[in-house]
Amino acid sequence: MEIISSCSQIQQTCMQARQSGRTLALVPTMGYFHDGHLSLMRWAREYCDMLVVSLFVNPAQFGPGEDYQRYPQDLDNDVHAAMEEGVDILFTPARSSLYPDGFSTWVEVQGLSGKLCGLTRPEHFRGVTTVVCKLFNLTCPHKAVFGQKDWQQLIIIKKMTRDLNMPVEIVGRPTVREDDGLAMSSRNAYLDQELRKVAPRVYQGLLMVRGRFESGQDDRLELELELRSYYQRNLPQAEIDYVQIVDSNNLEPQDRVKPGALAAVALKLGQARLIDNILLD
Ligand code: PAF
Repeated sequence: MEIISSCSQIQQTCMQARQSGRTLALVPTMGYFHDGHLSLMRWAREYCDMLVVSLFVNPAQFGPGEDYQRYPQDLDNDVHAAMEEGVDILFTPARSSLYPDGFSTWVEVQGLSGKLCGLTRPEHFRGVTTVVCKLFNLTCPHKAVFGQKDWQQLIIIKKMTRDLNMPVEIVGRPTVREDDGLAMSSRNAYLDQELRKVAPRVYQGLLMVRGRFESGQDDRLELELELRSYYQRNLPQAEIDYVQIVDSNNLEPQDRVKPGALAAVALKLGQARLIDNILLD
């Protein structure tokens, strides 16, 4: 595995590979790999001739007072894990090379970026789409792979590539969970022992609401209320950011919930802001 930090070198290497007919896949990450990341790499490894994984904690997607400064990192472990997964290139740019002095260009998907997580993190998705656009320009991938835990991020990136005619296919892969149902996330590292024990209730609430939908309840406000009160009763330690049931393609609320809708939640549990979602089929 090659580790490349220079933007010009990664661009040259990937462009040459693409021109010589090799298929390229990119897995963008902020590091601190867990099985969720590794499952994306495994999927991409099967598909492509050249697998690039980027590792960059992107300051532009963190708001003031958020966890940019303390985002968990373990480069040695990540390098080892990426090698085990057969990654060809680990791209580890410095902050100053992606955002040099005077940087002032942003990519923003309007509308979708202001919903759900965008309500309390108003500049988050602008930071995500800007860095992902830059990563696409630097690595020229045929496919880029993202986890469905970040459902909103996934559909925003899909929309960006459609709107801007980017020649890359966006692939979404299922959320990977711990044995007790907690969605894997680098931010789970912030949970202390007590909070870690109760954190699976985030997903249990989503399963509950899916069960209610399957047994015939399709009133959105009623379902949202039931889920909110589930968390108030079973996870009183959590501060609820949002509990919403929306159309999974455009994130618009529907009065009558239809199959294929998305129940999405964000809760603050101690130092960790946890997000999760489930499709209602
Ligand atoms: O999902 C993430 O880890 C990040 O938002 C991403 C896509 C790597 C952009 O920084």
